[in-house]
Amino acid sequence: MNLDELAGPLTKYARAQGSRCDQGDQASKMQKLQYDTRFKDADGLFDWYATYEELSDAFELFCPPSTVRDQGLLVVGCGNSSLSSDLYSAGYGDITNIDVSSPAIEKMQQQFAALPMRWLVMDATSMTFKSDSFGVSVDKGTLDAMMSSHADDLAGALCREVWRVLQPGGIFILVSHSGKRMPLLRSALSSFPVPAASDGSDVPVPAWRCLELRRCRLSPQATLINVLRSKLPPAGKLVDAFRDPELLQQASAEAKAALKRMAFIDAFRLFKARKRAQAGLQDDVEADEDPQERSLC
Ligand SMILES: C[S@@+](CC[C@H](N)C(=O)[O-])C[C@H]1O[C@@H](n2cnc3c(N)ncnc32)[C@H](O)[C@@H]1O
Repeated sequence: MNLDELAGPLTKYARAQGSRCDQGDQASKMQKLQYDTRFKDADGLFDWYATYEELSDAFELFCPPSTVRDQGLLVVGCGNSSLSSDLYSAGYGDITNIDVSSPAIEKMQQQFAALPMRWLVMDATSMTFKSDSFGVSVDKGTLDAMMSSHADDLAGALCREVWRVLQPGGIFILVSHSGKRMPLLRSALSSFPVPAASDGSDVPVPAWRCLELRRCRLSPQATLINVLRSKLPPAGKLVDAFRDPELLQQASAEAKAALKRMAFIDAFRLFKARKRAQAGLQDDVEADEDPQERSLC
């Protein structure tokens, strides 16, 4: 993708985002009404952090389409992301998408009417699905959005619900940059009582097993936004950066260089992850956690 061509669509996006985000009003970001307004205003697709392109290696490694086909895949807080349609194109079937925002779901339903997948308005912190309904759950940015609004209780509820609706041995692909993700996942388990075995034998204690933790490449859009943001004065607004052609050109060049570097590092990390997976090792979760809580926009 040519980064210079991103300026147009992103300007529109930033305009929709700008005022709220730049006021640092993180606390209200999670609120349904604000998401509704955002998705009503925003046309087209936008992906937080990364697209399927940057994540496909992890999907292929841990839950290739052939292993998921009949088990069902849940996308939690799908927003207007291209991930679900890309997953479908990659061969994943039986996809269910939920989001608390009805404008988001309505628009996605319209846009992807031809694809056989479900789009449901549903609160991820209290899902209406039966327990053990899905083989794979995917969250990209929703848990982080809840945490950036300092609502740990909501984020905890989301983790508990994901655990409840996942089948035993199911996979939760969580794309997050929050340092609190692992403690949250672990504490979500404490609300599930360990059943007593009828024959008195030991029952395995429920646990999230972290299969992989690595830094994933950001999408070109997310990279450009990050570079632009780094060039803004303290109270600067992202939307203004998009109105400055010189700044945009400079940021595009830097973003291109950063993407090249990230691609190289990512290839090396994937190689290491494959080796560890083959050796049956778990990654050292704590060592790689990012202590910095960063905002989403
Ligand atoms: C940061 S956006 C991420 C969107 C999308 N997953 C992506 O990667 O681009 C967070 C999304 O979570 C949704 N969301 C927030 N709270 C939610 C909740 N309680 N239940 C379901 N979705 C929620 C928002 O409407 C929004 O679409």
